Amino acid sequence: MTAITDVVDLEVRGKIALVTVDNPPVNALARGVRDGLFEAVTQAREDAAVEAVVIVCKGRTFIAGADIREFGRPPEGKLIFEAQDVIESSPKPVVAAIHGTALGGGLEVALCCHYRVAVESARFGLPEVKLGILPGAGGTQRLPRVVGVEKALSMMTSGDPIGADEALATGLIDAIVSGDLSERAVAYAEQVVEEGRPLEKVRESNDELDAARGKPEIFDGLRKGIARKTRGFLAPEAIVQCVEAAVNLPFDEAIRFEREQFVKLVTSHQSIAQRYCFFAERQANKIPDVPKDTPQRPIRRVGIIGAGTMGGGISMNFANAGIPVTIVEAKQEALDRGLSVVRRNYERSASRGRISQHDLEERLARIHGVLDIELLADCDLVIEAVFENMDLKKDIFRKLGDVCKNGAILASNTSALDINEIASVSGRPEAVIGLHFFSPANVMKLIEIVRGNETGGAAIATCMALAKKIGKVAVLVGVCRGFVGNRMLFARTVQSEKLILQGALPWDVDRVLYDFGFPMGPFAMYDLAGLDIGWNPKTSRGETLRNRLCEMGRRGQKTGAGYYNYDPETREHTPEPEVASLIRDYAKEKGIALRDIDDEEILQRCLFPMVNEAAKILEEGIAIRPSDIDVVWVNGYGWPQYRGGPVFWADSLGLDAIVARMKEFQEQDGGDRFWQPAALLEQLAREGKGFKDL
Ligand SMILES: NC(=O)c1ccc[n+]([C@@H]2O[C@H](COP(=O)([O-])OP(=O)(O)OC[C@H]3O[C@@H](n4cnc5c(N)ncnc54)[C@H](O)[C@@H]3O)[C@@H](O)[C@H]2O)c1
Repeated sequence: MTAITDVVDLEVRGKIALVTVDNPPVNALARGVRDGLFEAVTQAREDAAVEAVVIVCKGRTFIAGADIREFGRPPEGKLIFEAQDVIESSPKPVVAAIHGTALGGGLEVALCCHYRVAVESARFGLPEVKLGILPGAGGTQRLPRVVGVEKALSMMTSGDPIGADEALATGLIDAIVSGDLSERAVAYAEQVVEEGRPLEKVRESNDELDAARGKPEIFDGLRKGIARKTRGFLAPEAIVQCVEAAVNLPFDEAIRFEREQFVKLVTSHQSIAQRYCFFAERQANKIPDVPKDTPQRPIRRVGIIGAGTMGGGISMNFANAGIPVTIVEAKQEALDRGLSVVRRNYERSASRGRISQHDLEERLARIHGVLDIELLADCDLVIEAVFENMDLKKDIFRKLGDVCKNGAILASNTSALDINEIASVSGRPEAVIGLHFFSPANVMKLIEIVRGNETGGAAIATCMALAKKIGKVAVLVGVCRGFVGNRMLFARTVQSEKLILQGALPWDVDRVLYDFGFPMGPFAMYDLAGLDIGWNPKTSRGETLRNRLCEMGRRGQKTGAGYYNYDPETREHTPEPEVASLIRDYAKEKGIALRDIDDEEILQRCLFPMVNEAAKILEEGIAIRPSDIDVVWVNGYGWPQYRGGPVFWADSLGLDAIVARMKEFQEQDGGDRFWQPAALLEQLAREGKGFKDL
C-alpha cells in the first residue's frame, strides 16, 4: 500500500488498483482527497500491471460532499474537475464502491466512474440546493443522463437522497453487493475486465436527454410543482435551467453554463445565508455547560397528556421513530377524537404514497389511548399538552411527580407559561423541562427546549438527542414569556396591529411580509389562528378592532371571514372593503390620523421590533448565542432561510442603521417606549459591531 496523500492510499491487488480515501469524518472532498484521487488514478493508469481501478472510502461513508469550509476561498491543489477528468478519461475501467452516503461532490465523482456498486444501506443525492447552490461539478449534466430528466430534477431541486434499491432501479448504480465492500468491488472490477465490458462514460450517454428533447412540458410541470416551496430561492430555478441546457446544448457548452450558474450562486447573499443556517443548526446542539458526554436516559416509552391539536401531532413523531406512546385524555370522547385525527393524518400520508399501508398500521399500533394518568408510571418521558392554563398544568405536574418512575423526564409543551412555576410542584424540578413543539407538530421541524432554573443536564442532553432522533431541530432556550420565538412574534404582532391604525391596510402588511419571504403575513395568520382567542362575547363592547370583527361574526378562517373573506372551497382569501372602512372609522373615533405608509416602512416597523427583542433575549441569556435565534425563526416561523434569520438579516443591514431608524419611529410615535433600543443593540451599533461579534 502506498500513501498518495495523507488521506488517500493506493494498493494494487492483482490487476486491480484499489484507491482508498480516508478523510474523517465524512471523507469530504478536501484538497488532500482531490490531489490524492488525481495522483492515485494517474499512477494506476500508468501502471502496466493494473487493468482496472476501484475507488472506495474508509470510515462511515463514501465521499459525502465538498468541504464547505473551502467555499468562497481560492481553490488550492487539484480542482475537482481535474480529478474527475482523470477518472472519466481513464482507458482502464474505474469502479466506485459506495457505502454510507454518496452526496454532492461525492456522487459527482462517482458519476465519472465507469461503474458504480454499492451496499444495500447506501444513499445517493445531490443536496447542494439546501445550501443555496447547485451541483457544480457536472452533477446537473451527468445525473439526468443516468436517471432521466424528471428524476434528476426532483432529486436536485429537493436535495433529498435516494436509497440503493431506487438507485439500482434508475440505473444510478450497476449492482448492490453484500459482504466486504472493497473485496466485492475488486471482484466486480475483475469481472468487468474479464468480460471486456465497455468504458461507460456518462457524459457520452444521451438516450435519456434525447427522450426529453422538445418536451418543455417536463420543465414547466416541475417548475409549477415546486413553485410554492421554492418561492424566492434562486438555486432551484438555476438547477432547472442547467438541466434544460443539458438537454439542449452539447456537453462542454452546458458544463460551462453550469459553472457560470454555480459561481453566481456560490457568491450570492442567499447562499451565504443558507450556509450560515447550516452551521447555525449544528452549533445549536452545543450547550456549553452540558458536555457531549453527559449521561443520557434511554427513552423507550413516551407518555403524552392531552390528545388535542398538539398532543396528537407530538405522539406521531415518536410513533414514526419506533417509540411506543401512551396518550392520556380527560374524556373518552376527546380521546376518540384525538386518535381519529392521528389516524386521518396517517391515512393522508399513505394515500399520497409517503408511507406504506404497513407503516400506517405499525405506527398507529404504537399509539395507545388511556384515561388514567397512573398508566404513565413506566414512561421514560411524559409530555404534557393540555390547555394553556397554569393551574391545570400544575395539577398535572403534581400528579406526575407522584406517578412517574424515578428518572423519568417530565416535559410541558406550554407556549409561554413559566416552566419554573410548573416545575415547583413536581417534587423533582431537575426532571422538568419545556418541549415546545410547533403546530402542526408532526410536520414542523423546530422544538424549543426550555431549561428551567433547576433542569438537570441529563434531562437537557436526553431531550436534545431525542429531538434529533425524531428528525427535529432543537434549540435550548431559557424561561421567559413566549421563550425565543413567540416572544419575538409578540413584538411583531404589536406593531402589525398598530400599523393598520396608522394607515396601512392588513393586506398591505401581509403583502410586504409575504414578498419578504414569509409563507403568510400576520393578518392571514391571525385569521388562521382565530380572532376570537381570548375574546368574550358577553363583555365585548367593541373596544378593539379585533373585538369589533368578532362581534360582526368575522372570527377568522373558520367562520369564512376575518380580516379577509375566505372562499369556502379553496380557502383562498380576498380583501374585504368593509374591513377597510371599519378600520378607518375606528381610527377616526380614536382621533388617529391615517397616513400613507410605504412598503419599506411596513417591513421595518414589523421586523425591527423583532431584532430589538432578540437583543433583549441575548442580554438576558435566554438564548445561548445569536445564531440560535435564527435557527428558531427559520425552522419554526417561516423566516425565509435565504435571508439567514432575523439576527443575520439585522447584521447585514447594519445595527447602527436599525437603531437610527427605531429612534425615528419613536419620535414619530410620540416617544413610544416600545421603540427604545435594547442596551445591547445600542452598544453594538455604537461600536460598529454586529450580533456576529458577540
Ligand atoms: N396549538 C398550537 O399551535 C400550539 C403550539 C405550541 C404549543 N401549544 C401548547 O400546547 C398545549 C396544548 O395546546 P393544543 O392546541 O393542543 O390544545 P387543545 O385544546 O387542542 O388540546 C388540549 C387537550 O387536552 C385535553 N385535556 C385537558 N385537560 C386534561 C387533563 N386533565 N388530562 C388529560 N387531557 C386533558 C383536552 O381534552 C384537549 O383534548 C398548550 O399548552 C398550548 O399552549 C399549542
